[in-house]
Amino acid sequence: MASSELLQEICLNGQVPRHVAIIMDGNGRWAKQRGLPRAAGHKRGMAAVRESVKGALDAGIEILTLFAFSTENWQRPRSEVLALMGLLRLYVSKETQKLREQGCEVHVLGDLDALDASTKKSVEFIISETAGGVDLRLNLMISYSGREEILAACRQMIARAASGDLLPEEFNEALFEAALFTAGLPDPDLLIRTSDEFRLSNFMLWQVAYTELHVTSVLWPDFSREDLFRAVLDYQERDRRFGRVTVG
Ligand code: FPP
Repeated sequence: MASSELLQEICLNGQVPRHVAIIMDGNGRWAKQRGLPRAAGHKRGMAAVRESVKGALDAGIEILTLFAFSTENWQRPRSEVLALMGLLRLYVSKETQKLREQGCEVHVLGDLDALDASTKKSVEFIISETAGGVDLRLNLMISYSGREEILAACRQMIARAASGDLLPEEFNEALFEAALFTAGLPDPDLLIRTSDEFRLSNFMLWQVAYTELHVTSVLWPDFSREDLFRAVLDYQERDRRFGRVTVG
């Protein structure tokens, strides 16, 4: 089915997920299949990022969260880490203007202190240049770890309790969520993972408690707007009960 038909079906069904998160996986395998260096897969992955942003805007998704670099990814060979950081800077220089015109507000979530000075500057640039965009919030998760995010929030709560600012019995989900990178955002409704891997890989561990999962065999560099629309259509078939029973 063509992308316009898929989009039409999405609109007819109604109930577009507000927040879609994606674990972009399979860049290395895509490159290997073609006898190319891994970095070539990452580079092509950037085109898939562009496609997903366009698709999210077309479908009326409010928030798109992309797992671009995990804290564990720092352990990859130095050449690959450098290539990924270079791509991030390239993405900023090539895409910022377009994202701004598209009404995207970019946020970069993760341990940004781990970034080198020029990548950090680049990240700060895309954040400030796109501030105020109202059509799509794009979260790029970089140097991100779900467990670390939870621990950092715990540290904040413990510090407040130790200073007497918070009583243990006052500690609740709302306070905890306000201390996460995703403070103020709804949890993802849909989590997509490419390349047929059925793992969370330390991604948004708190936030995905009731998220619908969609795994596709498509490798990230091949991921298209149509693949995003198919994932949304799959989501629209789900019966979300949040642990309760369906009424009616
Ligand atoms: C996982 O594939 C992908 C990554 C670790 C990096 C994701 C980066 C991009 C899509 C490109 C740049 C993105 C932005 C936002 C600038 P993998 O390398 O683990 O693939 P494999 O499992 O096949 O080896």
